[in-house]
This record gives sequence, structure tokens and C-alpha cells, in this order.
Amino acid sequence: MAQTSPSILSADFSTLGKQVVAVSKAGADYIHVDVMDGHFVPNISFGAAVMKSLNRHETAPYDVHLMIEDPDDYLEDFVTDKTAFITVHQEACRHLHRTIQHIKSCGVKAGVSINPATPVSMLENILEDVDLVLIMSVNPGFGGQKLIPQTLSKIEELVDLREKYEYSYEIEIDGGVNADTVADVLGTGVDIVVAGSYIFRKDDKGSVDELAELYRDRMALIAD
Ligand code: DX5
Ligand code: ZN
Repeated sequence: MAQTSPSILSADFSTLGKQVVAVSKAGADYIHVDVMDGHFVPNISFGAAVMKSLNRHETAPYDVHLMIEDPDDYLEDFVTDKTAFITVHQEACRHLHRTIQHIKSCGVKAGVSINPATPVSMLENILEDVDLVLIMSVNPGFGGQKLIPQTLSKIEELVDLREKYEYSYEIEIDGGVNADTVADVLGTGVDIVVAGSYIFRKDDKGSVDELAELYRDRMALIAD
């Protein structure tokens, strides 16, 4: 079993606050915040203002996934008292080591992510510096895509490297996790599982407590 990080990308934005409070109440370990700029990925989602307004409520800590070019220019905007991780893409960072140190200097844990076509070997010289490695199991940009099975062996590779070199990063998977794929996903030894469209559905309605019950049932598949 693993920790859960529901992605609000698939939530109903018209009642976002309620859904985030409910999923937090249901025991989500993190809230996965997918930020897209329409350049690094072919979609635009939302920015720091949305996350900051959620922060007025009782929510789980934020797991920020920046799918943006030049993330250094925006890092400080995502630092709040509840920001646990800020993750940037290896493919988007010209000076990845500098960016990772920049995140840490903000008092936040630093994550790095790789797309499905990027091998773990591209991270060889940064693994000792990061707190989180996020393996994309779909091409980033959209919720509700199908998991790409050959990405799963990267998690096993990272588990082995962590043991061999005594690294301390956590490993997270993002994309296409649902009832059909979760057993294979958990079988890799992954620590944190992101799930968007499996947790949030556009027709979810009801009070915070009713929603929390719904989300608790859906997360039970993944959670400790
Ligand atoms: C994709 C995002 C994911 C996405 C996952 O670019 O990074 O976090 O919301 O959505 P599902 O779980 O629906 O694949
Ligand atoms: Zn994500």
C-alpha cells in the first residue's frame, strides 16, 4: 500500500474548495496540484492563486507538480505553510541542480519528474539531492489517460538505486492509476500514488461528509 495524492486536475473547479476539504477529511496524504503552462505541456490548468485560496481551508499538504517552462521564475509563488513538495521536470530545467537547490532554499522538499520517454539514467547525477522522484506514467498534460506499462519498471529501478546508494528520496507515480492498474502499480514498491480521474468525477455531489465518504472508498484501493 502507498500514500495517496489526489490530483485536483480532475475535480469540479466550481466546487473545488469543498472537494479538497472532503478528500483531505477522507485521509488523503497530499493534494496533488498540477500546474500547466501550455508550453511544456499542451494544456493550461491553473496557477498559484488557486492553490493559495485553497490554503484558507483545512487541507492536506500540497504536492505541487510544475509542468512549466522556466520553473525557477515561479517557485516562490507556490510556497505556503502547507506546501510539502515542489516537483519540476528534468526536461524543463536547463540547470536542474540549481533549480533543486532553489526549491530547498524555500524550505520545501524538492522533487524531480521524468516523462515516459525519459530514462532514469538522466537523473543519475541528481538522485542524491532530491526528496522525491515523480515517474510520469502518462504523457503529462491531461487527466484520464491510459497508463503506459513500460514506465513501471522505472520505479523498480529507483527502488534498487535507493537501496544500493542509500538515497533517501520517495518515489511517486502519476497518471492512469485506477482499479484496473493499481495492483501492478503497488507491486512496484512505489511510495506515493497520484490519482485524478479515479478519485474525482464531475458528477460528485453532496455535503463535505458525503463526499468524504465517497473519496474514502475510492482511496481505499491505494491507501495504507
Ligand atoms: C497529468 C497530471 C496528472 C493527472 C493524473 O499531466 O500530471 O496528475 O491529473 O490524472 P489521472 O489520474 O486521471 O491519470
Ligand atoms: Zn501531476
